[in-house]
Amino acid sequence: MNNSLPQVHEQYEALPYPPREPAEERQRLVTTWLDSLAMINHYCFAGEQDFKDGFRVLVAGGGTGDTTIYLAEQLRGTNARIVHLDLSEASIAIARRRAEIRGLDNIQWVQESLLDLPQLDLGQFDYINCSGVLHHLQDPDAGLRSLKQVLAVDGAIGMMVYATYGRTGVYQMQELLRQINADTDSMAGRLENARQLLATLPPTNWFARGEQLVFDHRHGDAGIYDLLLHAQDRSYTVEQLYAWLHDEHGFHIEFSDVGRGRSPYLPQLILAPRQPPFLAKVRQMPLRRQQAIAELIGGTLVMHAFFLTRGSRVAPYGDPACIPFFCHEPITGPELSAIIHRNTATPFIMQHSHTGITVPVDTGRFGKFILKYIDGRRSFEEVFSLVRAEEKFRRSPPNNETLFGDFVALYEFLNAIERLLLTRRRA
Ligand SMILES: C[S@@+](CC[C@H](N)C(=O)[O-])C[C@H]1O[C@@H](n2cnc3c(N)ncnc32)[C@H](O)[C@@H]1O
Repeated sequence: MNNSLPQVHEQYEALPYPPREPAEERQRLVTTWLDSLAMINHYCFAGEQDFKDGFRVLVAGGGTGDTTIYLAEQLRGTNARIVHLDLSEASIAIARRRAEIRGLDNIQWVQESLLDLPQLDLGQFDYINCSGVLHHLQDPDAGLRSLKQVLAVDGAIGMMVYATYGRTGVYQMQELLRQINADTDSMAGRLENARQLLATLPPTNWFARGEQLVFDHRHGDAGIYDLLLHAQDRSYTVEQLYAWLHDEHGFHIEFSDVGRGRSPYLPQLILAPRQPPFLAKVRQMPLRRQQAIAELIGGTLVMHAFFLTRGSRVAPYGDPACIPFFCHEPITGPELSAIIHRNTATPFIMQHSHTGITVPVDTGRFGKFILKYIDGRRSFEEVFSLVRAEEKFRRSPPNNETLFGDFVALYEFLNAIERLLLTRRRA
């Protein structure tokens, strides 16, 4: 069974995606945002997963292997098994070569349609990555149903599908190229017309206006074809995703945008540092409405990347046994503590250069002391004990509840941008 159009299969045989040169494995490891085990553990396994007990991974529509290689590297030396499945023989050949160069032997290669997964006898999976694939199926829901059938009860899916509003200009270009290419039969001819169009677009064109939102067209033929000439491509708004994944399929959704985490889905962060009065009302709304509003305000989401679990499995803030650790971030706890310490103005204005967010954050009375002891190894219980032992607080030491309450605003900001996550000792 295959509900991909023949043109889609033809595209990925001729132009494997993303374009990769296996020899480059000797120089660098490509990482993919959703597939850091630390993030998967925080969002999908309550921080409890140690990935050492026969962890089963499926990369569905794995293409040329970025996710597969990254996960296989992180799971090297464990008894985890990774299945890389794709329809395209040419893409699998590239991914396989990359794994050979790295000496990875924990991957099984399967050239099949993900729609056939339930019949392939591959067993159940603890984590399924399906990034940039379902929106290319004629029936994305059939793809999701298929993935769901091989997802372990406590398993999770890391998924990416296109976002509608941010790709407005992309869809205008696709329509434009369908018209220009009406009589052009070859892929080479269609690509040539796309290249000519890109070179001559007036700045008023909607794709040109938002060109910085996408990058594929700057990365050769495979990128141009995937972005502008795809025969089967649909997109979703936040509300459509909730209707599909939550209302129809019962999944819990945790967004995780590349580099920015949940921040583009939070109106107060997308509007920061401005906090208009209407925001107070918006923040009373159900989270999905807030996220839908943030998508419209920001206008920058060209894709939705998120984790799906059956019920929330996010590591809980407020559990003293959890270990806070910095992630995707050069700064350490003591360094951030020192910055807050030096800054005497209230409220403290957090200027996060990578996400570009500037926002007032309540650092509380204890924030700088708590941060000082966060080293990725100590649990909150241990961090709090050290805070209580500080000269300043010895006489009336704050209890855990007070400290969690005091630190919540800092945690919520750092966690929303996915710089401070939680794990547990076993993991
Ligand atoms: C845009 S690429 C994404 C590749 C990879 N997931 C990534 O994010 O880099 C889409 C991939 O899905 C594969 N694909 C499309 N339909 C499929 C299906 N029904 N079953 C398995 N793979 C499929 C294509 O061959 C292609 O390699």
